[in-house]
Amino acid sequence: MILKEIDELKKSKNAVILAHNYQPEEIYQVADFVGDSLELARVASNVEADVIVFCGVRFMAETAKILNPEKKVLLAANDAGCQMAEMISATKVRELRNNFPDAAVACYVNTTAETKTECDVCVTSSNAVKIINSLPQNQIIFVPDKNLGSYVAKNCSKKIILTDGYCYVHDCISVKDVEKIREKYHEAPILVHPESPSEVVDMCDYVCSTSQMISVSKEVDAKVIIVGTEIGMLAKLRQEVPEKTFVPLKSDAICGDMKLTDLDMVKDCLLHEKNEIFLDKDVMVKAKSCIDKMLLLS
Ligand code: 13P
Ligand code: SF4
Repeated sequence: MILKEIDELKKSKNAVILAHNYQPEEIYQVADFVGDSLELARVASNVEADVIVFCGVRFMAETAKILNPEKKVLLAANDAGCQMAEMISATKVRELRNNFPDAAVACYVNTTAETKTECDVCVTSSNAVKIINSLPQNQIIFVPDKNLGSYVAKNCSKKIILTDGYCYVHDCISVKDVEKIREKYHEAPILVHPESPSEVVDMCDYVCSTSQMISVSKEVDAKVIIVGTEIGMLAKLRQEVPEKTFVPLKSDAICGDMKLTDLDMVKDCLLHEKNEIFLDKDVMVKAKSCIDKMLLLS
């Protein structure tokens, strides 16, 4: 019943629903597109609908708004934030620039629109190494994720200046977790998200964004695959690659904010056009240049 109601509302409002891979499985049923941060930004930059309902966290909906200033962008779960995005601010970026005047500033897409206004380029987990390697500067300030930043530092020839942000969901995956799972599943390849600690990343077989986990799982010659990321990803993998078995590296890796969305919220949000994203015009223009640069370089 609710699925039909959402579908009718989508049609009458000329709306699309975009959802991140970590969203609860029920949300996949109503989403027009489910993907990782880069794919969602790409899709958002080509949307023809009048209304975008975002099922994910606030920085993702802000990115969609920045790419579509004329459209109505709604965040299904109004309280869904990303704790890592709050670990850096525009003021802190300005301070870092003063301390390292020759450095470019690259920010993870997991930042607020305000923070993006002070950065040169933004990156996601799927394109960070490529984009940072393509910058002309040799010194790069990378904010806020120390783990993704360390992964980039190990895979490029630049000097990376890190700050101390982290994702609480991935940062608690430990070397012990990897050792324990390897004992049980000797042969299974381990896929890991680069928001995980660098000593964990070093022990795993594939470092992937959430959607890269799907393509690697399809290609890899293994029946059982270990997945080191937020556990919502396992539902998506099981749907996309039903012939393989997926085991979580850490079964309590749960992002509370990603789990706030439910179908009632989506329906309510569409019906009443609730939780609209409003951003200052100047902020949108400045933040857009950093997102556009990423889309161009990735
Ligand atoms: P992806 O871009 O890999 O989907 O990551 C987004 C995120 O928030 C991971 O925690
Ligand atoms: Fe932010 Fe981590 Fe949740 Fe991703 S999993 S949205 S980085 S808190």
